[in-house]
Amino acid sequence: MSAAIETKALTKTYKSRALGKINVVDNLDLQVEEGEIFGFLGPNGAGKTTTIKMLLGIINPTSGEGFVLGREIGDMDVHRVISYLPERPYYYEHMTGLELLMFYDSLFGNKDQAKCQRLLEKVNLATDASKTIVQFSKGMQQRIGLAQSLLNDPKLLFLDEPTAGLDPIAHTEIRDLILNFRHEGRTVFISSHELSEVERICDRVAIIHRGKVMRQGHLNDLLRGGRIEIIAEGLTREFSDKVKLKDATVSFADGRLIVDMPEDSDPNSLVDGVRVAKGKIVSVIPRRKRLEDLFVETVKDIPIGAGEKN
Ligand SMILES: Nc1ncnc2c1ncn2[C@@H]1O[C@H](COP(=O)(O)OP(=O)(O)OP(=O)(O)O)[C@@H](O)[C@H]1O
Ligand SMILES: [Mg+2]
Repeated sequence: MSAAIETKALTKTYKSRALGKINVVDNLDLQVEEGEIFGFLGPNGAGKTTTIKMLLGIINPTSGEGFVLGREIGDMDVHRVISYLPERPYYYEHMTGLELLMFYDSLFGNKDQAKCQRLLEKVNLATDASKTIVQFSKGMQQRIGLAQSLLNDPKLLFLDEPTAGLDPIAHTEIRDLILNFRHEGRTVFISSHELSEVERICDRVAIIHRGKVMRQGHLNDLLRGGRIEIIAEGLTREFSDKVKLKDATVSFADGRLIVDMPEDSDPNSLVDGVRVAKGKIVSVIPRRKRLEDLFVETVKDIPIGAGEKN
């Protein structure tokens, strides 16, 4: 597999009256492989949209390099095979969904009504054919945006918060559409605050904070370190005192024992011990580390103002 996106020390500096020059994207090194769904995460103001805009050639980097499908950023030819769903899309409001798709298709030099109709069906908007964009709900606007982003059959899609503000059903529909992109062999670079969604659909993620990459890798690797919680009743303090498991926390009150242990420990010996002591196992619950936990522990300890000033 080759890299769909690669950046080397990509940096964007803005000047602010209060803080002087600030690197809002700060020496960013990213590597996104072809065919993967890559989650680009970070708190508000972390530099996600600024990075996407640099990768798309909408704004120029202050320094560093970036490559999209092997082409240096700023090379406009690559736009034939990539697409972009902005975080705040704005469309001509008087157009119907079909008119809008036909209009954007014409920008690629095409007028393929059958294709536009197929895309409307794909995003579940075919039954709203008579509505104009101004009559679209937010979820419908997101869906027409996704249809628009598929007009040129892109190899690589940049989706900036595609599910922001959608209801749970629309979430599921958009998630399925994005998952389908993987089967169609497309690469997806998705920025989102919906971490449970990202956890379900992404192969790899990067978490950025104040313009810097704090974590980057496969979700399976990044989310190692889950816990198992065992709760048992009808036990004595003596039994509880004898529970010795590496890196476990043990609490005991009124015959109720709660043991929280690393996911790679063996819970069987404890469960067997509880049975022998005539106690009752109430629950054995594996708690996988969540992306939300990783996100919070990644960004929480960084003091405000830690962004590099020039
Ligand atoms: N044109 C600009 N001039 C000055 N500062 C800017 C400009 N555009 C963005 N910034 C600043 O750059 C920082 C990063 O903004 P960006 O929009 O990239 O964040 P983001 O990660 O996309 O956030 P969100 O999750 O809220 O969409 C912010 O502090 C923002 O105020
Ligand atoms: Mg943004």
